[in-house]
Amino acid sequence: MSIIYFDNAATSFPKPTAVYEEVDRCIRQYGGNPGRGSHPLALAAGEKIFECRHRLARLFNAPSPEGVIFTLNATYALNFLIKGLLRPGDHVVISDMEHNAVLRPVVRCTGCGGIEYDVFSTMLETEGERRLRNATRICARIAAKIKPNTRAVICSHQSNLCSATLPLCEIGAFCRRHHLYFIVDASQSAGHLPIDMQAMSIDGLCVPGHKGLLGIQGCGAAIVDRDLHLGTIIEGGSGYASLDPDMPETLPERGEAGTLPTPAIAGLCAGLQYLEGVTLEHIRQHESALFCRLRDRLDSLAGYHLYLPEFEGSTLMFHREGVPSEHIGQYLSQRGICVRTGYHCAALGHRTLHTPDGGGVRVSFGPFNRAREVDLLYQALKEMP
Ligand code: ALA
Repeated sequence: MSIIYFDNAATSFPKPTAVYEEVDRCIRQYGGNPGRGSHPLALAAGEKIFECRHRLARLFNAPSPEGVIFTLNATYALNFLIKGLLRPGDHVVISDMEHNAVLRPVVRCTGCGGIEYDVFSTMLETEGERRLRNATRICARIAAKIKPNTRAVICSHQSNLCSATLPLCEIGAFCRRHHLYFIVDASQSAGHLPIDMQAMSIDGLCVPGHKGLLGIQGCGAAIVDRDLHLGTIIEGGSGYASLDPDMPETLPERGEAGTLPTPAIAGLCAGLQYLEGVTLEHIRQHESALFCRLRDRLDSLAGYHLYLPEFEGSTLMFHREGVPSEHIGQYLSQRGICVRTGYHCAALGHRTLHTPDGGGVRVSFGPFNRAREVDLLYQALKEMP
């Protein structure tokens, strides 16, 4: 049975051929421990890490490559920035579309870290969930939640459930005016939408390596301005200043305790190179075309409810009246079609979108999906009893 893969929001698949090749080359030819020794294999691994930092900094117009801190994934990066930045007595504001990777560390900080948080709404009440993203309204909603002790606004750029996208430029400018840190979870948008940390006034950007950036699982990054003064959440070897019992103050070493996942970073480097060649604009157009194709076909089926279909993106969620999402997922799976059902680790977003019990069916596109695959998905849904 051939596989049709529509779960790119969980992890992109397949990867560009160059990614597989670079991971293989890394393990076989230069798999030393970067920053741990001056022998050729350690130096070669260090050079690849250096190259990847520079490529990430360039893609996101980060203030400096030294601010690119490699982590295990975006969740780790968010935990690092949230727990490393917030101090007892701080208040933060998050959006009502957050993934658990933002919500849970923030809630944990309220439990034992003396932090308070509030949630701003991203939906326009007048026309409910079918209208969204008016930048002025969103900023007004954030403003209404600000308190004297508010330290940061933390939000996802694009939802992992649907096409909901927040206006980063305007929120970033708002944060600057109010002297707030702006932390962005770009887990779903990195590699799909342009992100410019400096133009958008982003202080901390968290990205996974294995989704839109097309690397393999095992690395992500927290990308920060040099002077964020982050505390650490894990301590250990940093490759230098070994006699010092504390973690170095300097970035990126401060956030990179222990051995880095060089093979994953090497794969990410090849993924970034691929994106540079293909261009984000091309990928966005391609994925939007697939989104619209599926949306228009599902619109013609009775009993289907689509979430935020007016906004084009790489992720489309739906439910079918009276049919549990899990059931649809299993049905599609038997036909070799991979989607993700349920709550997608984003209870807050599901509550905001008012999905039924059992959540929704999520179809998420990537650069290697084809229109024909969308038609096969539609056909399968049409034939579903
Ligand atoms: N956060 C990923 C998803 O939405 C894993 O599927």
